[in-house]
Amino acid sequence: MEKKKQEVILSIKDVSKSFPGVKALDQVSIDVLRGTVHGVVGENGAGKSTLMKILSGVFQKESGTVIFDGETIKNTSPIQSMKSGLSIIYQELNLVNTMSVGENIYLGRFREMDGMRGTHTKAKELLESIGCTIDTYKLVSELSVSEKQMVEITKALSFDSKLIIMDEPSSSLTADEMKELVNIIHHLKEQGISIIYISHKLDEIFDFCDIVTVMRDGHVIDTKPTSAFTRSDMIAKMVGRTIENEYPERPHCVGETLLEVRSLNTNKLHDISFELKKGEILGLVGLVGAGRTEIVRAIFGADKVKGQQLFIDGKLVKINKPIDAKNAGMALVPEDRKLQGLVLPFSVEANISMASFEKMTKFGFLKRSTEKEIAERQVKALGVKTPSIKTKVKSLSGGNQQKCIVGRWLENNPRILILDEPTRGIDVGAKYEIYVLMKQIAESGGSVILISSELPEVLNMSNRVLTINEGRITGEFNPQAVTPDQIMEKALGLGKEELKS
Ligand SMILES: Nc1ncnc2c1ncn2[C@@H]1O[C@H](COP(=O)(O)OP(=O)(O)OP(=O)(O)O)[C@@H](O)[C@H]1O
Ligand SMILES: [Mg+2]
Repeated sequence: MEKKKQEVILSIKDVSKSFPGVKALDQVSIDVLRGTVHGVVGENGAGKSTLMKILSGVFQKESGTVIFDGETIKNTSPIQSMKSGLSIIYQELNLVNTMSVGENIYLGRFREMDGMRGTHTKAKELLESIGCTIDTYKLVSELSVSEKQMVEITKALSFDSKLIIMDEPSSSLTADEMKELVNIIHHLKEQGISIIYISHKLDEIFDFCDIVTVMRDGHVIDTKPTSAFTRSDMIAKMVGRTIENEYPERPHCVGETLLEVRSLNTNKLHDISFELKKGEILGLVGLVGAGRTEIVRAIFGADKVKGQQLFIDGKLVKINKPIDAKNAGMALVPEDRKLQGLVLPFSVEANISMASFEKMTKFGFLKRSTEKEIAERQVKALGVKTPSIKTKVKSLSGGNQQKCIVGRWLENNPRILILDEPTRGIDVGAKYEIYVLMKQIAESGGSVILISSELPEVLNMSNRVLTINEGRITGEFNPQAVTPDQIMEKALGLGKEELKS
């Protein structure tokens, strides 16, 4: 007997799209069912965002058909697609910072809402319908990332969305905020709304997606119920080969002290002192806002600090600016790569080679051939997917932009490599490459400081872990000898009273 089929809300058939030098989508076909959470996974540059931008009318497809809610969609625009019930929430959220929450939700529709009072009343109702209590008069600029996301979701609901696309929504959320998002997703699903959920975090995919599509190089490789996938099967389909382990073995040749940090104090940090050994990967674990980024920025001379003393190989070094840190053999891959690192209108080549000026200049002249060599080496080492090294960074996929910054700093052969959330938005295969590079630096006598909100990543790669809470070091652990719970307890600041006494 034939099973009753669930209704298809969105049918994508044979959709293709090219950019200069890349076939971003090649005859992609996917059906999304009503009231389901449909995960989409794939390596950086696989075509996930491009497909979503076609659905939402940002890009036009070259061929193929899209049927949404029974209607064939032709050359739609973002506003049209929203009105037809299809909304997209980008990673770089799309709200007007200088306007209030309510105004953002009903942007351009105040008249339909009977003016401002009506706008705010309706916005409040809708926010409450997803269990959200943000004041609708608050300015968007005053909201946290997760609150902004809630506003975006509410905006989507205000258009009576039947399908909401979320493109890597979780990459800047804390664990608690993520829980809230999952609740909202369940809530939307109960109302018969479908969600397309894109993420590189496979735990999330397995947690709450009903069906998963794996994409690779512009193709759909497989679509099936999540329960029919194993983790390694999904990874193999994403990267096109089997990956035995998600983490290489951690380095195991810890030697004498390479870097010593003494009495680091700022408004936010309190008496931070620790040592970093040669051959070691040191993990910093803490909640978002605990002060991990501040610690490494202070060490690197990116923020002004009072009274800190840094010793490298036992010698006092003065680090007042990032250039001093670089000259002392340090490199920092910052957390917010768009703000602190990438120059989007510049080429891949320029972005990668930017910090290797000495290597590229001879008698004051820029050696183009070296610039090219550097870029090509890193593009190969990290598998940056780009038509050429001359391509502008802004046209690369999110994860590939990230790899360019990592490559820039690796090119300096740092002795002390500091990585702040290095694998955010990066696919499984490339994560592994980054872990291997960390290990190589450690095993050649250097050391690595790793900040990551992905606990399994820190615990699997570090030789030692420091927990940070409210600007203080609250614990030191060998991650192989304790449970993750013991580490989290200190990272959450529990048992702090005993520590003080
Ligand atoms: N505006 C653009 N101009 C030129 N090429 C583009 C543009 N947008 C995307 N591409 C290319 O299309 C391909 C697919 O990119 P897309 O952003 O869809 O990947 P993705 O699967 O979302 O990757 P990620 O996981 O890194 O976000 C990539 O090769 C990318 O360089
Ligand atoms: Mg993307």
